[in-house]
Amino acid sequence: MLEVSHLNVWRGATEVLRDVSFQVPKNTIVALLGGNGSGKSTLLHSLSGLIRPKSGSIRIDGKEAAGLDPAGVLALRMAQVPQGREVFASMTVRENLELGAALLRDSRRVRELVSQMLDRFPMLAERSKERAGMLSGGQQQQLAIARALMAQPDILMMDEPSAGLAPVVVDHMIETILDLKAQGLTILLVEQNVGVAAAVASYAHVLQGGCIGFSSPAEGLLDNPELVSSYLGR
Ligand SMILES: Nc1ncnc2c1ncn2[C@@H]1O[C@H](COP(=O)(O)OP(=O)(O)O)[C@@H](O)[C@H]1O
Ligand SMILES: [Mg+2]
Repeated sequence: MLEVSHLNVWRGATEVLRDVSFQVPKNTIVALLGGNGSGKSTLLHSLSGLIRPKSGSIRIDGKEAAGLDPAGVLALRMAQVPQGREVFASMTVRENLELGAALLRDSRRVRELVSQMLDRFPMLAERSKERAGMLSGGQQQQLAIARALMAQPDILMMDEPSAGLAPVVVDHMIETILDLKAQGLTILLVEQNVGVAAAVASYAHVLQGGCIGFSSPAEGLLDNPELVSSYLGR
């Protein structure tokens, strides 16, 4: 379980997140929606230990994580899939996966984990020796997810996994996310696509100008387009 309480984050002289509080109960998917620049990625980077919050608390299964570095957060079994996939284009699929376990010293264990990922994502198995840059956008997103799973997280944070994907590929991504939940993961899903959030999440929060402006059961989101449009500005 992830519990974020009264989180305040500044970038330089700018307050980017103000008094953000929410929870992601174990084995549920919680969506975080919001327009461009509303602070979604800043929030994930703060939870990942890449940005140090000014104040507030981040509890992972009851343990305080605010102020930890990324390795410390990973040790509490929370990992992030970055925005824009960010696979290493000139490295092979297999090499990209190996990098996801860079903190592990045990090369036999790394090989075991890679073969688990190739079982879980058969498309990656077919293309394990190809350079990641040769994969389609949707395949690269699957690779980015598999790479994050190499750290064996209990909690997975995903930053706009459906962005830039064709609708049919978005449907596949929805299935992947639901699969991850079925396998026991707890997921914080950042999205701009309200449809994806409504399809997979149980609860959604809308970030607006660095504050949570609105929270709702995800199933109600699509029934209330006016409310959504007022917060997402579309
Ligand atoms: N390194 C930075 N320094 C200063 N301001 C930043 C930095 N990174 C992001 N911001 C600002 O923080 C706000 C939130 O950005 P971001 O978290 O990337 O939003 P989102 O992911 O919702 O699009 C924006 O106003 C952005 O300009
Ligand atoms: Mg972002």
